[in-house]
Amino acid sequence: MPHSPRRRRRRVLRPLPLVAVGALVAAAAVTVPQLTPEADAATTLRGYADARGVKIGAAVADTPLTSESAYTTVLDREFNSVTAENAMKWDALEPSRGSYNWGAADRLVAHASAHQQGVRGHTLAWYSQLPSWLKNGNFSASELNTILKKHIDTTVGRYKGKIYAWDVINETFNEDGSMRGSLWQNKLGTGYIANALRWAHAADPSAKLYINDYNIEADNAKSDGLYNLAKQLLSQGVPLHGIGFQSHFVVGGVPSSMKANLKRFSDLGLEVSVTELDIRIPLPASSAELAQQSTDYKTATENCLGVPRCAGITVWGITDKYSWVPGTFNGYGAALPYNESYAAKPSYTGLSNGLNPTA
Ligand code: G3I
Repeated sequence: MPHSPRRRRRRVLRPLPLVAVGALVAAAAVTVPQLTPEADAATTLRGYADARGVKIGAAVADTPLTSESAYTTVLDREFNSVTAENAMKWDALEPSRGSYNWGAADRLVAHASAHQQGVRGHTLAWYSQLPSWLKNGNFSASELNTILKKHIDTTVGRYKGKIYAWDVINETFNEDGSMRGSLWQNKLGTGYIANALRWAHAADPSAKLYINDYNIEADNAKSDGLYNLAKQLLSQGVPLHGIGFQSHFVVGGVPSSMKANLKRFSDLGLEVSVTELDIRIPLPASSAELAQQSTDYKTATENCLGVPRCAGITVWGITDKYSWVPGTFNGYGAALPYNESYAAKPSYTGLSNGLNPTA
């Protein structure tokens, strides 16, 4: 009887001494657990995800991508998908009107292609991270419509065929399920959503087009608002293909209704993805909290993968060293699968076990 390659392969850890990177890495040598690729690629996160035909992604920041080998070692070994944490946001791409800065976005797309990783595009129409020329431009509705269309045509067109999914619309609901005020909503009305999706589809018909939001993981007023909008868009033939559940959780706080909630969207024929998973802990994190966080990573992963049309899970960063959490939630951190020295945490095991159906 043939042996499954996964069974025969054993994890071999080969510590690689790295040259210290900048002042942050102090004098002590950093070691990164390096898996010998031919021996055990199947037991990495991406190995398990590939075996299930889904994506395991990470949000990527440009600075460590270009300067820190520990970062790229883990990224390329463990993840088969990337999202630009900031590089594809409008303020990064077009800081002055008509003057584009594609550097960091192009770097990420090239990196992904060289490492057999898919790219999620993030994000086209959002209330935040808008360049000041746009935010303060006092444009008329007709001008704004033209500006948004041009942004979508240009950005989606540039990466046509290289981005498998786009967060076309980001964070467009209030907690009570009503539409959130934004430059787009206030001036163009809710119709901007259908338009943005249609323009993105015309620019790249092969990309899956998403609406992405936070606090929609549970069955609640906000996810109800989105559910009703999604149903309406689909009934109008608008090219909406998926819902992104950001999943910025607090330890112990994965909603009990998450799987059923994702399933109701999947039942509409939509893809569902966990797009920005992190699970923050009050600092300093105790070992009990790290263990609970591991359980939470597994549960959140299984909640998505247990639903038809779950396309994958993306974590919002790789290492606690660069997580957005401590800068935003005072006293919280330790939200990701790797610690600041790139050691895998219990949450890595939780994520891995969530991806591996035989764990
Ligand atoms: O680019 C400037 C740089 O020029 C300047 O020197 C520096 C000084 O603070 O700021 C830099 O911009 C920062 C940017 O990240 C790039 O590092 C912004 O201040 C900072 O606010 C921005 O934070 C990002 C945040 O989105 C912005 O809204 C976080 O890194 C990023 O993780 C976060 O990601 C969002 C998703 O896009 C949407 N869902 C929520 C998620 C977490 O907030």
